[in-house]
Amino acid sequence: MPLFKSKTKKLDKYSLKHGVGLITYDDPTSATSEQFNTIRINIQFSSVDKKLKSILFTSSAPSEGKSTVSNNVAVTWANQGEKVILMDADLRRPTVHKIFNVSNRVGLSSYLLGNASFEEIIQPTMVNNLFVITSGPIPPNPSELLGSMRTKDLLTRLEDKSDLLILDAPPANSVTDAQVLAAQVDGVIMVVPQGIAEKAGVAHAKQALETVHANILGVIMNRVTKEKYSGYYGGYYGGYYGAEKKK
Ligand SMILES: Nc1ncnc2c1ncn2[C@@H]1O[C@H](COP(=O)(O)OP(=O)(O)OP(=O)(O)O)[C@@H](O)[C@H]1O
Ligand SMILES: [Mg+2]
Repeated sequence: MPLFKSKTKKLDKYSLKHGVGLITYDDPTSATSEQFNTIRINIQFSSVDKKLKSILFTSSAPSEGKSTVSNNVAVTWANQGEKVILMDADLRRPTVHKIFNVSNRVGLSSYLLGNASFEEIIQPTMVNNLFVITSGPIPPNPSELLGSMRTKDLLTRLEDKSDLLILDAPPANSVTDAQVLAAQVDGVIMVVPQGIAEKAGVAHAKQALETVHANILGVIMNRVTKEKYSGYYGGYYGGYYGAEKKK
């Protein structure tokens, strides 16, 4: 199974530096944008009994594509006419403000510390129906803030105020932030870069999420190469595998 290949390769320097950005906004008819749309549809179908109100994206290690995938999925979701709030729940290496080119003067941390109101932290974006909450200034104690009652209440309020709340979370293995948040959302999606993620790391992250009874909806294979999956002609974003299909 490609997910568990032991021979790993390095993330290529070019894409780490330049990335793929917000391709669903910049080039909505591209094959890659189409793949994000397929991912969105598959996520919706992964929970047919209950409409998802909140989902969190994480991965085992840093720089595996959590922000890229979650931010682009947020755009495709909002394009369907649903009101989406994308929250930067990564209080250590936040990027949502950069990707959407909005101010990060106030955001999640400001609200949690009582320095900004609920209304103040929800910012509109250039995408219709899509709102973002940036990280706010980096606090000294992210895990403590994210584990607070105030965070729990905020998530409930945001779910009420939107059709879907998407959390761009930190990696699951280094700190407890993702775990703490995963327990409070309807579904969790793991981003796994094919051939880059370590098998043991992915297993450890999955276990950490299961410990807090997170509802793991599935896995998104990132950086799937053309040769391996001839069906995916954008090259990069691979399949989305619902949790029930995993062996
Ligand atoms: N499929 C891809 N093809 C090319 N570049 C990619 C792909 N996925 C991610 N990248 C690039 O890799 C870099 C890291 O991606 P991203 O910021 O989404 O990862 P992350 O998991 O959110 O990282 P962090 O752990 O810092 O939050 C970015 O420059 C991004 O544009
Ligand atoms: Mg990120």
